[in-house]
Amino acid sequence: MITKQAIEAFGSIRTPFYYYDMELLKETLKVYTSYTKKFGYNAHYAIKANAEPRILQTICKAGLGADCVSGNEVKIAIKNGFAPSKIVYAGVGKSDREIKTALKAGIFSFNCESVPEIRIINDLAAGMGVVAKISLRVNPDIDAHTHKYISTGRKEDKFGISPWEFQAVADLLKELKNIKLIGLHFHVGSQILDMSVFPLLCRMVEQLQSWFIDKKIKIDNINLGGGLGVDYQNPDQNPIANFKDYFELIHKNLIVRPGQKIHFEPGRAIVAQCGHLISRVLYVKIGQKMKFVILDAGMNDLIRPALYQAHHDIENLVSTGKKTKYDVVGPVCESSDKFAHNIWLPETKRGDLMALHTAGAYGQVMAMRYNQKDLAKAYYSDEIIK
Ligand code: LLP
Repeated sequence: MITKQAIEAFGSIRTPFYYYDMELLKETLKVYTSYTKKFGYNAHYAIKANAEPRILQTICKAGLGADCVSGNEVKIAIKNGFAPSKIVYAGVGKSDREIKTALKAGIFSFNCESVPEIRIINDLAAGMGVVAKISLRVNPDIDAHTHKYISTGRKEDKFGISPWEFQAVADLLKELKNIKLIGLHFHVGSQILDMSVFPLLCRMVEQLQSWFIDKKIKIDNINLGGGLGVDYQNPDQNPIANFKDYFELIHKNLIVRPGQKIHFEPGRAIVAQCGHLISRVLYVKIGQKMKFVILDAGMNDLIRPALYQAHHDIENLVSTGKKTKYDVVGPVCESSDKFAHNIWLPETKRGDLMALHTAGAYGQVMAMRYNQKDLAKAYYSDEIIK
């Protein structure tokens, strides 16, 4: 919900821009950490969802660690206050340079995605005279029932180590002297709203970790990744994700061994609802079939609708006119540069301020300069509203 005061302040800001409601971010973190504290869980925020310094610093202050997927994310995490001892690093294609960055920083865990990667981390760690702590990212072959581009735990996905490779990994661990196995890591997809996926994941974790426990290989840490979805359809009614059901389901279904620590990597559920893309209407054009609202924001600012056919609620922040049906599009020279098709909006005209909601996660971070557009800047509620 964007307040009247905020809309007034928007008048003097160059559009398009990202607007972050810092009160909602703090409230979300308060609810999230109330559950992690209650159950004694550890959380590492997935920096890929939003890496703006103010957002990172707020999340860091709330006590979360960081989940990174590149050497630069590791550097950004440290720069913004995250302790290396709370940083995990995943990704199927870690380069030698990135691995060295993380080794130098002394991160908590490399979440390893293949046997060749484990060998390279060992060699680089040996060269630096250190021991790398690793977890195995396991592909549990679970369908997260989400968009195919953001499903990561099915047999056909590129992520994780397959269970049939466990023996090879166990043999390797005996041979490699600069690797220490500290846990297992899972992440089966993103924007998961089918809650039955999480008990299923817990059952798979139990089945897969038993293999190691039977072989007397200690698994001190279980990392269940991120993935909890948010309500893109009704952001005002559900500004905070369903952390209650999520954590209660995990607590009920996960068998935790004595001394074992449980970790999570939330991204979207922390930052999605606090972010909005604010744009102005450039033109309203009557097409052959549709009426088009043409915004000054495009797929270069928010690519999710073009890439995943994602829905973002669109609001005209200033008009109370009669409802009319429109297509809402951006200025980029691609037909896929469309935010919504055939939606009801109050009568809209040139200059109206529009908000695309639920844009805090995978919005600004995925922006690009296609058509040589400028990158949208970030503005924060506690800075623009006095
Ligand atoms: N952990 C790992 C290993 C991941 O790959 C991801 C997201 C997360 C945690 C955080 O997941 P979340 O809690 O945000 O669902 N660009 C796409 C989403 C890509 C997600 C990639 N991995 C989108 O806009 O929907």
